[in-house]
Amino acid sequence: MKLCMIGTGYVGLVSGVCFSDLGNDVICVDKDKNKIDLLQKGKIPIYEPGLSELVIKNFRNKKLSFSTNLQKSVKESDIIFICVGTPTKKGGSSADLSQIYNVAKEISSSINKFKIIITKSTVPVTTGDEIEKIIAKKNSKKKFSVVSNPEFLREGEAIRDFSYPDRIVIGSNDKKSNRILKNLYNPLISKGAKYLNTSRRSAELIKYASNAFLATKITFINEIANLCEKTGVNVEDISIGMGLDKRIGGRFLRAGPAYGGSCFPKDTKAIITTADRFKSNLSVIKSVIKSNENRSNILLKRVHQILNNKIKNKKISFLGVTFKANTDDMRDSSSLIMIPSLSKKGAIIRYYDPTGFKKEFAKNENVTFENSIKKAIEGSDLVIIHTEWNDFKSINFKNLVKKKKFIIYDMRNIYSPEKIKEQGLKYFSIGR
Ligand code: UDX
Repeated sequence: MKLCMIGTGYVGLVSGVCFSDLGNDVICVDKDKNKIDLLQKGKIPIYEPGLSELVIKNFRNKKLSFSTNLQKSVKESDIIFICVGTPTKKGGSSADLSQIYNVAKEISSSINKFKIIITKSTVPVTTGDEIEKIIAKKNSKKKFSVVSNPEFLREGEAIRDFSYPDRIVIGSNDKKSNRILKNLYNPLISKGAKYLNTSRRSAELIKYASNAFLATKITFINEIANLCEKTGVNVEDISIGMGLDKRIGGRFLRAGPAYGGSCFPKDTKAIITTADRFKSNLSVIKSVIKSNENRSNILLKRVHQILNNKIKNKKISFLGVTFKANTDDMRDSSSLIMIPSLSKKGAIIRYYDPTGFKKEFAKNENVTFENSIKKAIEGSDLVIIHTEWNDFKSINFKNLVKKKKFIIYDMRNIYSPEKIKEQGLKYFSIGR
């Protein structure tokens, strides 16, 4: 199959590379010439374990190519995946679909034979209808079919999620497209992935509803963790106890800082705006957003308590600042709230993250990047474990630093309270 991925961001690049690895001929298109030049040299603009190797392998095998020429690439392909960004509109909460519609217009001028046009980007329900209208202005409906095929890739696990998905959702009523796409995904279906064919609108909504539900699960357990702290209960027992009920399931019940990243914050807001437009009130998701936005304040309050409300000139170290481990992504990371707030109160902050310096903190006073765990925590009053990188899971704090009296606030519950207390350290965690 000849595939064209439009947009070489997270979704387009990972999906394109993985499709080429399954034996398809894939062209990845982006209007950003710098990005395309880098990719052609085998340099990857994002941090994703395993991606670089796959890009180099398939580029060398000539199964994968990169281009800035959208129209030519569309003409040469049978299936077009739209993978451009749908960020939150500036100053609003709905998804900005301008990139999607611009791409649809460009595609509409390049339809030289039957094409399947797929939205992989997360788009509000009914966007597929709009794309169809745009393309139909210049083309007969017999020459194309617009399908929704949402992605469920997690950053840091994207290649595994592509190769072993729980499900593949294809939203289309067009028999020909469904047959072709089932064939395209057959290597994954034969390994056990569930294949679900729905209407286009259903597929669009499945993506938003899934992300909103996962965000709800996390927020739910975060609030239960608050109660656990007040009642002397261990939230991990609650997660295990709840998760063993198959109707609930154990995943996404890890209490921690506010959820962040490129999807949950954006998609929960966008589904609400879409629902409001259809005069439907998603009150549960509205509460989830509010609770999550307040989460960083709750954790900051705890930091104040831990330091007896004396923040000025306190040396605070952050281990990890990205929104989760195995990504360099800072989008909506709770560290973006916590670090500036503590810096404003006069704390002296050092941070270490395996993915390096973050420009996001460059303007904050007394916030410095250190290039090792040791340098970041030496002489600290409080060490905050903000992100659950493996590098932080077995630190021998006592051996690593000279200063023996400092406090640890483990926001990801990666240490056992009993074991860390054996090292004579004062230790706080989440919901236990
Ligand atoms: C998410 C969805 O999981 C994926 O299916 C979708 O297509 C894209 O968005 P991603 O944003 O990469 O993926 O990360 P994910 O692993 O889902 O984590 C999102 C946030 O939730 C992170 O801040 C993470 O730390 C937090 N989280 C996750 C928890 O706090 N507790 C959990 O138990 C799980």
